[in-house]
Amino acid sequence: MAQKETNGDPAFEKLGVTSWLKLKLFGKDKKTSLVDTQFFDDFSSYKTIGRYDIEKKLGQGSMGVVYLGEDPYIKRKVAIKVARPYLDQQDDEAQKYSKRFFAEVQSVGRLLHPNIVAIHDAGLHQNFYYLAMEYIIGSTLDNFCTKNNLLPVSKVVEIIYSACRAIDYAHSQGVVHRDIKPSNMMLTESGDIKITDFGIAHVQTDNSYTKGVIGTPCYMSPEQITDQAVDDKTDIFSLGCVLYELLAGKKAFPGDNHFAIMYKISTLEPDSILNIRPKTPPILDKIVRKALAKDTSVRYQSCMDFAYELRVALRGLTNTVKKSKIDDVIDYVHQASFFENFTRSQVNNILKSSNLTKVPKGKILLSEGEIDDSFYIILSGKAMVRKNKKNIAVINRGECFGEMAYLAGGAREATVFAVTDCILMKISATLLEKSPESIQLLFMKRFAMTLLTRLAQKK
Ligand SMILES: Nc1ncnc2c1ncn2[C@@H]1O[C@H](COP(=O)(O)OP(=O)(O)O)[C@@H](O)[C@H]1O
Ligand SMILES: [Mg+2]
Repeated sequence: MAQKETNGDPAFEKLGVTSWLKLKLFGKDKKTSLVDTQFFDDFSSYKTIGRYDIEKKLGQGSMGVVYLGEDPYIKRKVAIKVARPYLDQQDDEAQKYSKRFFAEVQSVGRLLHPNIVAIHDAGLHQNFYYLAMEYIIGSTLDNFCTKNNLLPVSKVVEIIYSACRAIDYAHSQGVVHRDIKPSNMMLTESGDIKITDFGIAHVQTDNSYTKGVIGTPCYMSPEQITDQAVDDKTDIFSLGCVLYELLAGKKAFPGDNHFAIMYKISTLEPDSILNIRPKTPPILDKIVRKALAKDTSVRYQSCMDFAYELRVALRGLTNTVKKSKIDDVIDYVHQASFFENFTRSQVNNILKSSNLTKVPKGKILLSEGEIDDSFYIILSGKAMVRKNKKNIAVINRGECFGEMAYLAGGAREATVFAVTDCILMKISATLLEKSPESIQLLFMKRFAMTLLTRLAQKK
């Protein structure tokens, strides 16, 4: 039946059946914020939610309403987000929703970062789930996405740079945002960025669409709209959309309805920012394009890579950045998990006996039988170990490879190639041996940990 209905609709092939059907049935021609009005009426009479006194409504989105409240004991203002479980509490689905809601809140609640809105509390008030979070005085980035109210380019870059660092921190804690968009990013009175709603978009039951609860797809990644598994890179795409909009004053993938937008995201390149705002530095157009790559292996492999390039761009835009290039490089290298027990000055020291290289996807990084004294740490991207024509192990960002030949003193026992574009740190063992013993010891500890992990994986 689906076959018959989709005849002549090229989007069907691109979007996959689930998204296509959702669009056909529920999404097309609908605007966002479809939470039913009964829900708001129910709530307008409440003076308290949980232990919080309600002062006024701050705003409303596709999944609920946000109120300004006050904690009566701490006398602290809080923003309270109320989401409606649309199913009866006795229902099995509702039980599942409840479990997922609190599981998600637990992981998100642990995030502690100056650029992430803190979650103070969560609970169930009558039939409504609520979250009490840090109240931000400021405005969402929505307000700076129109032609006549754009921020200076350097401020935009600074905001997205800070956002990258915050999101990278969340990723390191295993939390993917999944709903990065201007209305989830608030600019405080002092000009700092605060990101809200981490992971919360994820807490929907499969029936969300039947209630018309569907947010805007404008910032969704191609993999999100085609219902594929998503990872950190989905946030990079969405943040790329926000960067585009803040620079261009228009959406990267505009459209009159959800269907048109989703079709564009999965098939078309956005108009070049240089055509829309010709004075934009070309490097930013390049950065936006890389963040918006439809193929995840071409996109920035981590928010830190994205941040690093923004930092480089920022240096060209403003003289107010006091940090020198070497500081940027140290920061970038230091964020790799391999170096988590190293101090900044130790990282600086290691940089003297190493070099950083960018390698394209597919490149052979080291070959079986080769003899040399270097080993590598992946700062960005992913590589594969290959032996006897079989792929035997993946090496991720923050991990090392090639250290066996150095430790055992023989030839390479396997081949390693880049699965995505990678940024590598190549360290010369001969030079490392000239480093202070404390540094050598840290390397040995890290190698020992790596070996143990690999042995455990083999079992
Ligand atoms: N922590 C907060 N502090 C102050 N205002 C907030 C906070 N969180 C959300 N808001 C306001 O409430 C509005 C609705 O938020 P939300 O329900 O998450 O919907 P959306 O993210 O789709 O706009 C936001 O656009 C913002 O103006
Ligand atoms: Mg929000």
